[in-house]
Amino acid sequence: MDKVIIFDTTLRDGEQAAGSSLNVQEKLEIARQLERMGVDIIEAGFPVTSPGDFEAVGRIAKEIRGCSVCGLARAVKADIDGAWEAVKDAADPRIHIFLSASDIHMAHQLKKSHEQVHEMAIAAITHARKYTSNIEFSPMDSTRADPDFIYRMLTDVISAGASTVNIPDTVGYAIPEEFGGFIRNIFAKVGNIDKAVVSVHCHNDLGLAVANSLQAVQCGARQVECTINGIGERAGNASLEEVVMAISVRSDQFNISTGIKTKEIYRASRLVSELTGFAVQPNKAIVGANAFRHQSGIHQDGVIKLSSTYEIIDPRAVGVPASSLVMGKLSGRHAFKERLAELGFSLSEKELERVFAAFKELADKKKEVTDRDIEALMAEDKRTVKEYYHLERIQVTCGDRGIPTAAVKLIGPDGQELADAALGTGPVDATYKAINRLVKVPNVLTEFTVNSITEGIDAVGEVLIRIESDGVTYTGRGSDADIVVASAKAYMNALNRLLTSRDTKSQDRGAQG
Ligand code: KIV
Ligand code: ZN
Repeated sequence: MDKVIIFDTTLRDGEQAAGSSLNVQEKLEIARQLERMGVDIIEAGFPVTSPGDFEAVGRIAKEIRGCSVCGLARAVKADIDGAWEAVKDAADPRIHIFLSASDIHMAHQLKKSHEQVHEMAIAAITHARKYTSNIEFSPMDSTRADPDFIYRMLTDVISAGASTVNIPDTVGYAIPEEFGGFIRNIFAKVGNIDKAVVSVHCHNDLGLAVANSLQAVQCGARQVECTINGIGERAGNASLEEVVMAISVRSDQFNISTGIKTKEIYRASRLVSELTGFAVQPNKAIVGANAFRHQSGIHQDGVIKLSSTYEIIDPRAVGVPASSLVMGKLSGRHAFKERLAELGFSLSEKELERVFAAFKELADKKKEVTDRDIEALMAEDKRTVKEYYHLERIQVTCGDRGIPTAAVKLIGPDGQELADAALGTGPVDATYKAINRLVKVPNVLTEFTVNSITEGIDAVGEVLIRIESDGVTYTGRGSDADIVVASAKAYMNALNRLLTSRDTKSQDRGAQG
């Protein structure tokens, strides 16, 4: 069977989503899961954009051995040199060069003529060819460009050495039949197209990213660029899980395969959602909380009799845990470890010790600990960033009489105990003000959401916040059976990220002299 190459750009285009702020450790964590899941190429970042991105791409390139690692570059020498420097240690490094190709972009953004852009593209590929033959070229905004210009450009970049030509629907403008026709024309009009892989990169502004990608596959494209949960610039990119499962479930239509281990999809989706702070909508295909839930009596009756009456995918095929085994305070370490393994987590003894202690603490407060609670404990454990300040204690009073008051005790950077108290308009406001009196880092809270992880009055609450400081957004998450404590943990998490990033930036400045 023919194969479609899965090019994952969660860590590059996905990271461009407004409000995303993954640190190097988190990017590595996601890259490991993508490798485990069997993607063919990880686009790990855009190295010249920041020292942090350069470092993340470099670390991923060095560590990930099971697939190709790619760095993005504009069609200029410095970007290409930077991208190569970052990916060169990968098992199979790739440079991805993009350049605006539509009249609107060329006239208003680049302020260059067709000929100048064409020359830039060839010069860029020729330069990259000094480093590698694994070169991808993307004429940006292809679907709004003059098609004849695209055919000519593709012909010449392939002659110059591009091994993959990617057709981006940058603003999500195309509709499936039109896009399929464009791909067919590329095969008809680009004389040397058999020397390159044709790829597509679709955005979701009209909700058509997956449909357009699948149509392109039907018309001969053999690489699809996509992201976990469909995250990305604006309305996002084609969702990896939807593209992969459509190709798999409807193999009768596609007669093609991907190398994705579909059982890893759910875990990848949870991890990306946890680390980016972008919740997955309940009705999201494949990975949403309701994707395999049946509400109407007729549907439930059908599924009980024969699951395929209303289910086209076995939830286990995408790694959704088969049972929702409930654990409690009497559950032992061994049973806990087994459940973790069934949920796809394998921990070292030290990690297990830490998470088991957190589980026991939760089981004391909460009668039943569900799979989602365990996933939240694991996420809380992963969330650990360098702790400049650690939340040691918090005491809050609130109600409809009196003024909400919070007292907090933190352990500071040198291990010193710091304590203070503050009044606020509510318990969370009082808590944040008390923490601010100790940490003293100016910032603005731009987002605050509370979600209950599970159902019931004793559910664990998960708080997601975003704070902004010097134009940069930092995400913080915290979970606890008490939502004010969860809010305090989320704020400490965001502040510690902010301080880590400042530290890294000042070290970078120091290193540059
Ligand atoms: O959407 C786009 O055009 C891109 C390119 C860099 C491929 O992300
Ligand atoms: Zn894009």
